Amino acid sequence: MTVAAIIVAAGKGERAGGETPKQYVSVGGKALLLHSVDALAAHSGIDHLVLVVPAGDEDLATAMLGAERNVSVVTGGTSRHQSVRNGLDRLVRTGAEWVLIHDAARPFVPSRVIDDLLEALDIESAAVPVLSVVDTLAKAGKELGPTLDRSSVVRVQTPQAFHLGAVVDAHDKAQDDTATDDAQLVRALGMKVATVEGDALLEKITHPADFALAEARLAATRSVRTGMGFDVHRLEAAQELWLGGLLIAHDKGLAGHSDADVALHALTDALLGAAGEGDIGDHFPPSDPQWRGAPSSRFLEHARNRIVARGGAIDHVDLTIICEAPRIGPHRGAMRARIAELLRVELSRVSVKATTTERLGFTGRGEGIAAQAVATIRI
Ligand code: CTP
Ligand code: MG
Repeated sequence: MTVAAIIVAAGKGERAGGETPKQYVSVGGKALLLHSVDALAAHSGIDHLVLVVPAGDEDLATAMLGAERNVSVVTGGTSRHQSVRNGLDRLVRTGAEWVLIHDAARPFVPSRVIDDLLEALDIESAAVPVLSVVDTLAKAGKELGPTLDRSSVVRVQTPQAFHLGAVVDAHDKAQDDTATDDAQLVRALGMKVATVEGDALLEKITHPADFALAEARLAATRSVRTGMGFDVHRLEAAQELWLGGLLIAHDKGLAGHSDADVALHALTDALLGAAGEGDIGDHFPPSDPQWRGAPSSRFLEHARNRIVARGGAIDHVDLTIICEAPRIGPHRGAMRARIAELLRVELSRVSVKATTTERLGFTGRGEGIAAQAVATIRI
C-alpha cells in the first residue's frame, strides 16, 4: 500500500497572534511545521510527504526542509479546505492509495496514532483520532445555557486517514468551504469514519498560551543528554582545506578518507555520542569506498537525522578548533551559520571557538588540526 501524508501549514495563525504565522514559530528550537514533517517522515508506513504552505512561502519552506528530504512543497489556498484540495491534487499523480491529512499546528504526532489509523483503513475508508471531553459542557450564551451530555461528544484531532479516492471525492463535492477538518466532508457523503484513540500530545496550537504548553509537553517527554567528540586530521600540501563546513583558502589542507573536515567530524561524534549511537566510523566506515572524498556535511546531517527520527532535538553544540593556522576568527561567523543550517537549528544554538596550543605539539607545529565538540540534545 502506498501511503502519503499531507501537512497543511498555509494558515495565517491569526488567533495565535504575533508577527510570524504560528507554523514558523520555534518550539523546542525547531519551527512548528518541521516537528510534524519529521514525525511523519520518520514513520516507516509513510512513503511520501506533501507540505502545503502559504502562497509566496514556497522557497522559504523548501529552504527550511533542506535538500535531502523527500517532501513536495505545494501552495495553499484561502481556506483549509482549499489548502487540502491543493495537496490532494499533487498526490493524484503519485500513485498514493491512502493519505493522512494533518494540521501543521499539531506538532507532536505519536507513531502509535499513525499505526492505529493505518490499521483502521484496512476496514473503513476513513479514520480519525478522537479524545473524550473531560470538562462539563454547556450551551454558550450571555448566561450559562443548559448542560450538554459530554459522554455523547468527542474532540476530533488530526492526522485523519483516508482512502485517497474517498477524500478526493469528498473535497470535490464539498458544500462547505469553512470545514475545519476532512472527516466531516467524507461523512457528508454518507461514508463511515472509524475512530481511534487520540492523544493529548496532538493538541492543536491555536492561542498564544498554547506555545508554552507545547514547550512543556516536549520537555516532559525528553531527557537531556550530552555527548562529546574529538578528531584529528593531518595537514598536507596540495589538499583542499574543508573546515567547519567551509572551503577555506590555505596553503595546506586536511588529509583523510572523506573531505577530512575535522570540525564536522568532532561535531558528528558529539551528536552520535549524545544519542548513544556509536561513532562516525560505525556509520561511515573508512573501509567503504563510497565515502571517499565525501562531504562531511552529510555525516553531520546524518547524525542530526538520527536524533530527529527518534523524536529528539538538538539543544546546543559547542565546537573548539585547535590549530595555529589558518586563523579561525575571520571564518567563525560563516562556520556557525553553516553548522546551524546543516543541523536546522537557530544560530544561537551553535558555538564555534578556536584556540592555538602555543606552538606546542603537532597542532603547534602545524602538522595537523584537532577539534573537539560537545553536544546537548533532548531525546
Ligand atoms: N490551514 C491551511 N490553509 C488555510 C487555513 C488553515 O493550510 N487557508 C492550516 C493551518 O496552517 C493549520 C491547520 O490548517 O495547520 C488548522 O487551522 P488553524 O488551526 O485554524 O490555523 P490557522 O488558520 O493558521 O489559524 P487561525 O484560524 O487562528 O488564523
Ligand atoms: Mg484557521
